[in-house]
Amino acid sequence: MSAIFTGKNLVRLERVTSTNSILSEMLSNSKPLVDGSAIMADEQTQGRGQQGAFWESSPSKNITLSLLYRPEFLAIDSQFYLSIAVSLGICDMLKDELNQEVQIKWPNDIYINNKKIAGILIENTLIGNKLKTSIIGIGLNVNQTEFISNAPNPCSMKNVSGKEYNLEQITDSLFESIENWYLQLKGAKFTELKNEYLKKLFRYKQEGYYKIDGHIVKAEIVDIDTSGRLVILVNNEIKTFDTKEIEFIL
Ligand code: BTN
Repeated sequence: MSAIFTGKNLVRLERVTSTNSILSEMLSNSKPLVDGSAIMADEQTQGRGQQGAFWESSPSKNITLSLLYRPEFLAIDSQFYLSIAVSLGICDMLKDELNQEVQIKWPNDIYINNKKIAGILIENTLIGNKLKTSIIGIGLNVNQTEFISNAPNPCSMKNVSGKEYNLEQITDSLFESIENWYLQLKGAKFTELKNEYLKKLFRYKQEGYYKIDGHIVKAEIVDIDTSGRLVILVNNEIKTFDTKEIEFIL
């Protein structure tokens, strides 16, 4: 089995600044890119992570790619569900390959054994109240075993299993499992997507420590709202937070 349209138009590049930036430039130069087009690079010189961080990836060791979807069916208010679909796709592929529990640390970090194995950077364009294009940047650590940047707790597939992986085969499986969930999204299976996300959510219904307004507090994750904000129980009160407003203490 392989994906139907995801990654069918695949451009492989040796060295780029950032696959997300290149794909975005291609789009703004009105390149006719079909739904599911993807760009992969052996090396990124300015790999971008969330909140302006640098994404570390040794050349030719890992998967660094950007995928273009055209989710014109999706309302802006529901855009977090795209992040859910992509996260679940990555989790499924990793579960198949590694046979280990895979979790999602809110909003969309992929975790195994309390360590981050993959990250997602989604950049959308809008038309009216719908999404027009979505550039989905995925950094998945595969064969790299040592990390030098100050990223808090990285790990790779090889760190987990001790095995070396074929990047092409992993990429194919990744496209297939992401497409499965993307089709669920297209079929408006919001409840299923959210339920599956909560099942895999790191620290869901567990107490943990968080930094809010400069203070460390003990809290329990109880839900995510429809915009993808984190809903927690803190000091017997339910509160909702955006990514910039709360930090996990690991
Ligand atoms: C994160 O910080 O967790 C998100 C990391 C996203 C990294 C990927 S690598 C491919 C794509 N191109 C980029 O510049 N970033 C994303």
